[in-house]
Amino acid sequence: MEPERLERLLAATHGADGLARGLPAEAYTSEAFWQLECNTVLSSTWVCAGFAHELSAAGDVIPVTVAGKPVLLVKKADGEIAAFHNVCRHRCLQLVDQPKNVGKLIRCPYHAWAYDLSGALRASPHFGGADLDQPEGFNSQAHGLWPIRTTVWHDWIFVNLDGTAEAFEDYAAPLIERLSGVNFHQVEPIGVLDFGEIATNWKFIMENFIEPYHVQFVHKTTTRQPLGDHYTIIDGRCVGSAVDLSEEEGTSGSLAVSSRYLTLFPNFIVGRYFPDQLGVYLNIPIGPERMLQKRALYTTEGQTLTAEEIDGLKSLWWDVHKEDHEMCERMQIGRHSPVASEGGVLSPVWEDSVRAFQDQIVQAVTAPKAVN
Ligand code: FES
Ligand SMILES: [Fe+2]
Repeated sequence: MEPERLERLLAATHGADGLARGLPAEAYTSEAFWQLECNTVLSSTWVCAGFAHELSAAGDVIPVTVAGKPVLLVKKADGEIAAFHNVCRHRCLQLVDQPKNVGKLIRCPYHAWAYDLSGALRASPHFGGADLDQPEGFNSQAHGLWPIRTTVWHDWIFVNLDGTAEAFEDYAAPLIERLSGVNFHQVEPIGVLDFGEIATNWKFIMENFIEPYHVQFVHKTTTRQPLGDHYTIIDGRCVGSAVDLSEEEGTSGSLAVSSRYLTLFPNFIVGRYFPDQLGVYLNIPIGPERMLQKRALYTTEGQTLTAEEIDGLKSLWWDVHKEDHEMCERMQIGRHSPVASEGGVLSPVWEDSVRAFQDQIVQAVTAPKAVN
């Protein structure tokens, strides 16, 4: 996208009335803006790409998409999790197309080149001729899988495609601090909901999570959290909202409890529901108007739930997410109207967190590296 055009699009953060405006519609619909995000914000930051507990045995692999690029998460022989570009070094075919266990070798289906779980090339059958795997001068060490910088924080796998993000502990410091009361040794996954594809730009899912304004209207049958008990949180890369119920009427596993709705820029979402639940959303942008989403549910106090209790939680969260998805999909449809060209208006009280998230987007896509 041309720098002047981009600048013009993103410059108007506030209207003459003093109210904050949302990002222009193009930031949610245009292929050019999506490509710009792939080359900037989704490459230069720590992007959440998977749940560690879904890679339990050595040889487990999960293909994912990060910044529009095929990426492979791999459980190595030593138990560590690594990420590689999911592309064969021979003809650059997508190497793995579905989650599975590959054993000791990741074998390309096209001409049977094989890589070990650390990404080293171990076989290139007949590449130099019949029964000659390596032509003269072929250095197999130079043809291993391309590694991607990876950090596993508790159950969450983060990747930094361009390798330039600061160390994860510094990058995520505000979120780490806000979750410091959680005893992570006791945090256990109890289930994952897979929502598949959602017809919305990924930023709407983030924005929806960090504003409390919609909760009373959209979730009126699934939650009991009065608006007046909510407030927003703006703390660097961690923006979100919270609710401290003045009257603690809820019970564990309901949505009438004090909660923290926190994000780590750009795509990580964690909800803390007192006294004993966590929920984490895996948000995978795959295009300007499409994304994938999963949600993992966790207990935080080592408590044991019955199968019925777990099913109850899953069905509650399924319904809550579906309520949010409908709003985000309709926000997306709204972006095709000229009415949305200036982004609508944001509440100074309930949606300042949304603007704070958008400011980080603007900053990332207009950084000198992005527009040069
Ligand atoms: S493309 Fe993978 S072996 Fe040929
Ligand atoms: Fe919601």
